[in-house]
Amino acid sequence: MNDAATDGHPPRYTQDGATPIVLAEKLEADPHTVCARYRALSPVVARSTGGFVVLGAAEIEALLKDDRVRSAKAETNRAKGITDGPLWDFYQLSMQVDGPEHRKRRAPFTRTFALRLIEQTRPMIRAVADRLIDNWIQDRPVDFVDGFAKPLPALTIAHILGIPEEEVPRFTTLSNEAARVTGFNWAPEELPSMQEACRQMVSLVQQMLMDRRSRPREDFLSRYLAEIDIKADGLSAEEAVAQIVLLIAAGIETTRFAEIALVSLLMQHRSQWDAICRNPELAQRAVRESLRFEPSVGTIVRVSAQPLAIAGHVVPAGQLIHLSLLSASRDERVFQRSGEFDIMRDDLPRTNIGFGGGMHRCLGDSLALAELEESLIALTQRVPQLRLAGAQPQIRGHSGVRRIEGMQVVS
Ligand code: HEM
Repeated sequence: MNDAATDGHPPRYTQDGATPIVLAEKLEADPHTVCARYRALSPVVARSTGGFVVLGAAEIEALLKDDRVRSAKAETNRAKGITDGPLWDFYQLSMQVDGPEHRKRRAPFTRTFALRLIEQTRPMIRAVADRLIDNWIQDRPVDFVDGFAKPLPALTIAHILGIPEEEVPRFTTLSNEAARVTGFNWAPEELPSMQEACRQMVSLVQQMLMDRRSRPREDFLSRYLAEIDIKADGLSAEEAVAQIVLLIAAGIETTRFAEIALVSLLMQHRSQWDAICRNPELAQRAVRESLRFEPSVGTIVRVSAQPLAIAGHVVPAGQLIHLSLLSASRDERVFQRSGEFDIMRDDLPRTNIGFGGGMHRCLGDSLALAELEESLIALTQRVPQLRLAGAQPQIRGHSGVRRIEGMQVVS
């Protein structure tokens, strides 16, 4: 190999000569190219700044169910200088931990966030999408991000949780500020602002839960509290709050990214957009293919609790293992013509690895699919003539939630 992925040099290998080393900054800068080139060499590579990156879909699927690897939130937070304060407390109390604590904190959602209930939100999501489209001015360029992709997931979760619409901009700003901590592109002096955003989110959710406790309603939060009480499973008030904060934060930025990627890919593949305009049933295929082609979450991180052999590569205990969902989604061993965007492909998976797997698999996957499908049907039915006004948005990054720049459209 002699190309941009390795700065024009043959790849370096670990001291035992067994495992190629990938340059972390190259991976961030051009993830699809670098992943494809290294995938051809090995399903596991060492990361130049420490730890390993797993590129193969089969190896990632297996690791997501392997209890010799565990959640790495504490390690990644410490590495970012987060050792106390609202963000540290939030992660410790949230379901992003392992073992009985994880099961206990996730369990109340089995019924309150069940597929049947999520399916019932589809008309509400369609109405939100229709209302956002109504606000567009015909024939003038519209900022698709601010006018559609950003408010849609925020308004959807607000409706589900019963947050008044006038509070949504504040919630979105706080949630986005606090969630920035999951990325790697911020300076240490920005941490206090993220800590403060997290503190305010916790305080707002505390007030909402207190309100439902004193005046239960026919809504999700009241059902959630009832579920906790009925089960008497020992969830503390702080734990109850942390799961709702997570629900808000985990679903907004990820779905915003997916919405922009979906519409921008279809704008670039006009015949596929036109096919959905003629047949809305294809929306489901389009959403799944878009999540495969440009996943919102590039990597999730785990730690090896003991020494492991992954595809014959030795990973010592205590190593950070970056599972590249981005690479798995284009693994040639799973997908034919994996670098082609084709909503009609016959190897479209039913369960998308972009939502992770194992016990931490995304809790909001059905909601995200409902949002993306309903909004795409609304767009293709209401504004079939939609087109990009200007450059297509730039998608960046490999770690955590990826970044996507603005997108102007005209209808
Ligand atoms: C396209 C949109 C979305 C994508 C790509 C996505 C992706 C993911 C991924 C990859 C994970 C696994 C993280 C890990 O194993 O470390 C995850 C977990 C999670 N997601 Fe999503 N997500 C999306 C939307 C949502 C929505 C809409 C919600 C809720 C409203 C949500 C709530 C959660 C929660 C609570 C977890 C933690 C689950 C656990 O640790 O047990 N997500 N998501």
